[in-house]
Amino acid sequence: MVSRVIPVDPFDLVIFGATGDLAQRKILPALFRRFCAGQWPEGTQIIGVARRAQDDAGFRDVVRAALHEHDPTARSNAQSVAEFLRRVRYLPLDATQDQGWGDLASLLHADRIRAFYFSVGPSLFGPLAERIKAHGLTNAQTRVVVEKPFGHDLASAQALNATLARYFHESQIYRIDHYLGKETVQNLMAVRFGNMLFEPLWNSQYVDHIQITVAETVGIDGREDYYERAGAMRDMVQNHLMQLLCLIAMEPPAKFDPDAVRDEKLKVIRALDTVEPHHIVRGQFEGGQDGAGYRAVVGNPRSTTESYVALRAHVSNWRWAGTPFYLRTGKRLVARSSVINVMFKDAPHSIFGAAAGRHANMLSIRLQPNEGITLKVTIKEPGQGGMRLIDVPLDMSFAEALGPENQNPPGAYERLIMDVIRGNQTLFMRGDEVEAAWAWTDPIIAGWHARGDVPKPYDSGSTGPGDAELLMKRDGRHWQGINP
Ligand code: BG6
Repeated sequence: MVSRVIPVDPFDLVIFGATGDLAQRKILPALFRRFCAGQWPEGTQIIGVARRAQDDAGFRDVVRAALHEHDPTARSNAQSVAEFLRRVRYLPLDATQDQGWGDLASLLHADRIRAFYFSVGPSLFGPLAERIKAHGLTNAQTRVVVEKPFGHDLASAQALNATLARYFHESQIYRIDHYLGKETVQNLMAVRFGNMLFEPLWNSQYVDHIQITVAETVGIDGREDYYERAGAMRDMVQNHLMQLLCLIAMEPPAKFDPDAVRDEKLKVIRALDTVEPHHIVRGQFEGGQDGAGYRAVVGNPRSTTESYVALRAHVSNWRWAGTPFYLRTGKRLVARSSVINVMFKDAPHSIFGAAAGRHANMLSIRLQPNEGITLKVTIKEPGQGGMRLIDVPLDMSFAEALGPENQNPPGAYERLIMDVIRGNQTLFMRGDEVEAAWAWTDPIIAGWHARGDVPKPYDSGSTGPGDAELLMKRDGRHWQGINP
């Protein structure tokens, strides 16, 4: 089984903020890989835009260095790098000034797909959108791509949506949540809606609860200012974990098309209850052998920003009433592991009697690393001595099941940028979806501020604060381990 590469139509991609961290680490390496895969047709061009004064050659040196650092194949692939760089240009431009836009216009092809990637802070979305429009840079095939964070709260997200809507139609706006570009996250939909096996059981009658864990070993180094203002709730829960929750909880859309999928996700977010304060735990990592604690890293000894959140959410609809969703995410934890565990209920009656113990099925969907699925099933313990039961894993690693040629599927940014070019918005967040997610998040954060809540300390390299265990224990449940 080899992944198919379907070439896209020729395009002009303008990256605003092209000398910034995201462009260097993610966007340009992703474009390079799609170029090497043969997905770009002849004539396609990338135009880097930033304030820094430099020419094409200077920018190409910057891009070459970025590829060498962020793409493991680039160093040994000098010819492809050189061919890629021939298609890369640069234009110095200040988003808040009116000079230089005519030069940008002259680089663009009239009837070609035209994507403007706003890899800049949200304060520049408005000035950029306004000038793109005012200087006549749009054509019939224009799209704009915006990155997270999409706002800081509901009001700012509404303001951003209103600003973009002044210049672009919703069908032209691509709001990125890179989790949706991950192969295994898309696989959640394939597992749920491509198999007859799971969907009939996918409801509160059969599912006791669901655990969604996104654990990271990294800290926040290099992003202190942003993170201190955001915290785990805004940085991870409002977007990435919310998207995972939506894909797990949503009703089957009639079609895999942008509005059908996003309508269903929106219904899930709108069905979420307000989270009670005692159903949420915030944590902040302490220093350890392998690094400083959160407060030292951000240089604020009194910081109350959380680097960890665990919470219990409820989707109040017919399918999920009574089945809690436990979400947790944190920095500097014991392992990097994103997993969704669907915990089924016990069988209603054990014909083997109390001695056989209680056994429940669990479906684990591992998103990263070691992508795969495990189904815990109950069987007879071998041997004499009566009917004793044990749980064993039916374990599937995607890498093994799909073969070596599928070990490196396109990364999230590769997939998403090509979807922008194709004009497919299915894996991008719609404006109303983002606003609904903020509407759920805002009261939680406001509650912390009103109560002067201080996050619980946890050891770096641990599974998070002890209170997160209590959150589950109180409900007679426990978290599954965080394993690499
Ligand atoms: C980003 C967050 O959106 O996602 C980071 O801002 C986080 O804090 C990252 O580390 C996690 O992404 P991934 O792809 O490494 O799971």
